[in-house]
Amino acid sequence: MTLVSGATTISVLDTSDRVVSVVMEIRPLNRSDVEAWIDMRLRLWPDHARHELVGETVDWAHGKLGVFVAEVEDGLTGFAEVTMRDRAPGCTTSPVGYLEGWWVESGHRRRGIGTALLKASEQWSRVRGATGFASDAHADNEASRAAHGALGFAEKSAVLRFHKRIADSADIPAGIGSEASVTLREIDADNVRAITRLAVAPHQRAFVAPNAISLAQYAFATNAWTRAIYADDTPVGYVLLADEEGEEYRYFLWRFMIDRRYQGMGFGNAAMELIIEHVRSQSGAVGLATSYVPLAGGPGEFYHRLGFVDTGQEDDGELETVLTF
Ligand SMILES: CC(C)(COP(=O)(O)OP(=O)(O)OC[C@H]1O[C@@H](n2cnc3c(N)ncnc32)[C@H](O)[C@@H]1OP(=O)(O)O)[C@@H](O)C(=O)NCCC(=O)NCCS
Repeated sequence: MTLVSGATTISVLDTSDRVVSVVMEIRPLNRSDVEAWIDMRLRLWPDHARHELVGETVDWAHGKLGVFVAEVEDGLTGFAEVTMRDRAPGCTTSPVGYLEGWWVESGHRRRGIGTALLKASEQWSRVRGATGFASDAHADNEASRAAHGALGFAEKSAVLRFHKRIADSADIPAGIGSEASVTLREIDADNVRAITRLAVAPHQRAFVAPNAISLAQYAFATNAWTRAIYADDTPVGYVLLADEEGEEYRYFLWRFMIDRRYQGMGFGNAAMELIIEHVRSQSGAVGLATSYVPLAGGPGEFYHRLGFVDTGQEDDGELETVLTF
């Protein structure tokens, strides 16, 4: 068993329901945890699709969302998410820390992990100026209400929430046609949410990472370039390029996607032309490389029609293909 710094030993049930001791550490989320964190978010909010739950990765990358994870030797077993809000129902102080999400894997509950995650979240808020801390829970979530009560929260109000579906996001009429003018635009605070909401069709998810993951990777990349793809004033896609100085082709198309609602309208081709034009204008550019998953329905044919030629190189199941200038 590896002892990690700041770790404590807790008792949990193993797969045969025997009580065993494991080492547990509470620490901030790091980049390599993102996929496991999203998996846990899906278990906490099972009514949401994966692409709907990756959006907050951007808030995390920019420090607006604090995320703490509980790690035991075989992986992550819980998380807490916290933000700063100006006010919260029942709180008289401002600003307040707000517990946005709280999850412990079922086999590891009642072992103090939730408490430890909450303490880390409170500390995160305290150093940002909060003197109060708030949270919410469904009235019928007995465990959550009991845990909140045990950890010093006073119940302030019971609020009924109403919801109705007014459109299926997959069917929102595009309102734009193939004649729309395609441009590449910078991503900023105003359009970042819209870009993270763009998604490929379910059967294409194996071919490209969600945009929020790409934006999080971009936030930490040393030499990358990213743009939103617009058709007139509608965001329809996303591109991320890596500048790999020293590599034969130097510029690598890291991510490229057109939202499922806007595929088949010529926007992909038009955007690629702009991307190629951008790369051509860079000093020392001799070509553009990329790689693709060689499965039926994958983007291989799309690249080949644009003049990309496979090099025969394979990396992690993806085939390298290049457009030489
Ligand atoms: C809520 C949750 C995060 C608590 O995590 P946890 O690791 O089990 O919490 P702890 O072990 O630190 O529990 C702290 C105290 O809360 C109370 N508590 C927690 N779960 C309880 C339950 N099911 N019934 C009664 N009291 C409970 C107890 O007083 C407990 O202390 P004790 O075990 O010494 O008696 C966990 O139950 C969970 O992931 N639930 C599903 C997701 C969820 O509902 N999230 C909250 C959404 S608002």
